[in-house]
Amino acid sequence: MIHVSATPVLALRGVSKRFGAVQALTDVELEVHPGEVVALVGDNGAGKSTLVKAIAGVSPADEGRVEWNGDPVSIDKPHDAQELGIATVYQDLALCDNLDVVGNLFLGNELKSGGILDEVEMERRSRELLSTLSIRIPSVRIPVASLSGGQRQTVAIARSLLGEPRVVILDEPTAALGVEQTAQVLDLVERLRERELGVLLISHNMADVRAVSDRVAVLRLGRNNGTFTVSETSQEEIVSAITGATDNVVTRRNARTAQQASTTEVRK
Ligand SMILES: Nc1ncnc2c1ncn2[C@@H]1O[C@H](COP(=O)(O)OP(=O)(O)OP(=O)(O)O)[C@@H](O)[C@H]1O
Ligand SMILES: [Mg+2]
Repeated sequence: MIHVSATPVLALRGVSKRFGAVQALTDVELEVHPGEVVALVGDNGAGKSTLVKAIAGVSPADEGRVEWNGDPVSIDKPHDAQELGIATVYQDLALCDNLDVVGNLFLGNELKSGGILDEVEMERRSRELLSTLSIRIPSVRIPVASLSGGQRQTVAIARSLLGEPRVVILDEPTAALGVEQTAQVLDLVERLRERELGVLLISHNMADVRAVSDRVAVLRLGRNNGTFTVSETSQEEIVSAITGATDNVVTRRNARTAQQASTTEVRK
């Protein structure tokens, strides 16, 4: 379902960022609404990670504004983003292999009772969180090292939800995953949307993008190169926006296939 809220929970207005001689972002605009999954796509070096780091406060933008529920805010450090309700799940996950699922979920935010770790309560909350997200894991007491890549990714996403964010940024959450594991993660993205979170999904995988996003924002050479409603846009249009060409290998191959299909049709 497409979002209903008119005011974006997160909006970037004219965001620019330069690294020495490299203009990584120029005048970028982006909106994410509650209950909306927005895919951020673009070729290598297009500026996706730079944009994520600006939103997450890891490496603030040089120019432009960030609006939160319509109000201007400043995000100068990661803590500012967290305070607002922005959670970022980075590609490297940063899970501790030797800790179990509970230990990872509460890493750095351990619950204590009378000065000692409240393992019972942390385990209870872990189960509750995983179950509300329909995440299936053999046991919350096994080290995450023994989980599949997809399960690890869902644990990392679940952990980001403990701070009750309003926006979750997922950087290439399915990049290293197989078909079944990817499906698990995409299911979880849908759960986030159902919970009215705004989701910004960075991905190179067009099938994932189409499967789960409401809109696609394309960056090309650090600039906006179109925002598309997925249900109304063909894959070729999105790929063209990414590559900056209306004529490219993908569109030519598709044109050829379409032509062959229609010739076959005629011959029948
Ligand atoms: N810390 C940095 N110092 C200098 N240049 C940087 C830095 N970070 C990014 N850049 C440059 O900014 C541009 C955008 O890079 P960015 O990492 O945002 O691209 P991306 O869209 O995330 O690419 P990819 O799909 O490969 O991850 C690139 O030209 C990159 O070389
Ligand atoms: Mg990147």
